[in-house]
Amino acid sequence: MKSELNPKIWSRTARREDGVISIGGCSIVQLAEKFGTPAFILDESDFKARATQWRTALHEHFGDKAGSAYYAAKAFISRDIAKWVSEAGLGLDVCTGGELAVAIAAEFPPARIELHGNNKSENEISEAIDYRVGTIVLDSLQEIDRVARIAHSKGVVQNVMLRLTPGVDAHTHEAISTAHEDVKFGFSIASGAAWDAILATMRHETLKLKGVHAHIGSQIFVAEGFKEASNRLVEILARYKSEFGVELPELDLGGGYGIAYTESDNPFSADSAMQSLSQAVREACAKNSIDIPSISIEPGRAIVGPTMTTIYEVGTTKEVRLEDGSTRWYISVDGGMSDNIRPGLYDAEYSITLANRVSNAELRKSRIVGKHCETGDIVIKDVQLPSDIAPGDLLAVPATGAYGRSMANNYNHMVRPPVISVLNNEARIMIRRETYADLLALEVDDD
Ligand code: LLP
Repeated sequence: MKSELNPKIWSRTARREDGVISIGGCSIVQLAEKFGTPAFILDESDFKARATQWRTALHEHFGDKAGSAYYAAKAFISRDIAKWVSEAGLGLDVCTGGELAVAIAAEFPPARIELHGNNKSENEISEAIDYRVGTIVLDSLQEIDRVARIAHSKGVVQNVMLRLTPGVDAHTHEAISTAHEDVKFGFSIASGAAWDAILATMRHETLKLKGVHAHIGSQIFVAEGFKEASNRLVEILARYKSEFGVELPELDLGGGYGIAYTESDNPFSADSAMQSLSQAVREACAKNSIDIPSISIEPGRAIVGPTMTTIYEVGTTKEVRLEDGSTRWYISVDGGMSDNIRPGLYDAEYSITLANRVSNAELRKSRIVGKHCETGDIVIKDVQLPSDIAPGDLLAVPATGAYGRSMANNYNHMVRPPVISVLNNEARIMIRRETYADLLALEVDDD
């Protein structure tokens, strides 16, 4: 029987056996009993496989021009994740002191870390240099001077890249699109700011400029934006060569590769993404008569996104009569916008399935909502689900690994859910559920 769990959406070891979904050989019913709901279930072997796949694809398509495949920690990070990323031979993209702290706690090899951010603090820069991170990606003129000064005070020459805005349309949601002109990130190529930043960086003896970087946005399905960005960045590298007679050795083209949340999403495979990127870079370099630089990428979502599934328990169901006389069927689950704010922020769409049993009841158009005090607390706006779903049933939402737990919050004083890692029939807590004591612990007594 064809599995109803579409492999383009679900993590690789997700199955339905005897009506119950299992991941990593662990039944969702047992996971819910043991660890409670809501919970993020992380498919460990799938994470490792995807990390390896992206690195391998980079190497296959760029050969000796392959730089680093940096895993973007913002999508989801923990010490274990950092260790797996390191073991798979990838680099790590961190953009705050907090993400760097996890990398340091995991003893992530410093040379394979790059530090991003449009407003890195003095402390963050200082900690990164003390840990000897391989690369700092500079984002403003003040930051060029700031990093140079801190490196100087420590007697270090720091490798840096410059984040550029190539002015392209990434064809994604505006809030996660980063390479058009009116954004806070990087130096605009069109305005001349990028070239000025190159000159400013070169004036500092404690900065070693390795190359240029662009990240055009996230959840992208169209190759055109990457191609355009490659072209414009290669033009800058060519200008550098013609002015200074030498070539900058590195080009980092960021992350942004989309994943499937629903049947209608058609993402790139790692292989096809790297094939088209390689073609774009090769053509751009040939046109501009420069050698192909070492190429790096920064996938976050494409690695971790499909590897986690959120399980919720149904608490109530309710029929609501609408103004036009029709009715809407609401199913409330025990989480919502505190564990997944993406539908609220970006109108993101997800899939959902009855996970603890199969039902032959006729389908009913349903709206899945969370338990927060807000009408916009929607998990899925409209979905056909069996009409007999009732309190106590478990619902599973796949593909919540990226920007799910990492953007989780304590709205309504909800505690953030755990991340349970599953592998070969065994489950272990990677990040525990918060407790009310955790929430209260932040309050300081006056006495
Ligand atoms: N590199 C840089 C410099 C970035 O800013 C980002 C994401 C990435 C790499 C990784 O992008 P990815 O491969 O994961 O698309 N919270 C939003 C996504 C924001 C992405 C921010 N930067 C969401 O939930 O869709």
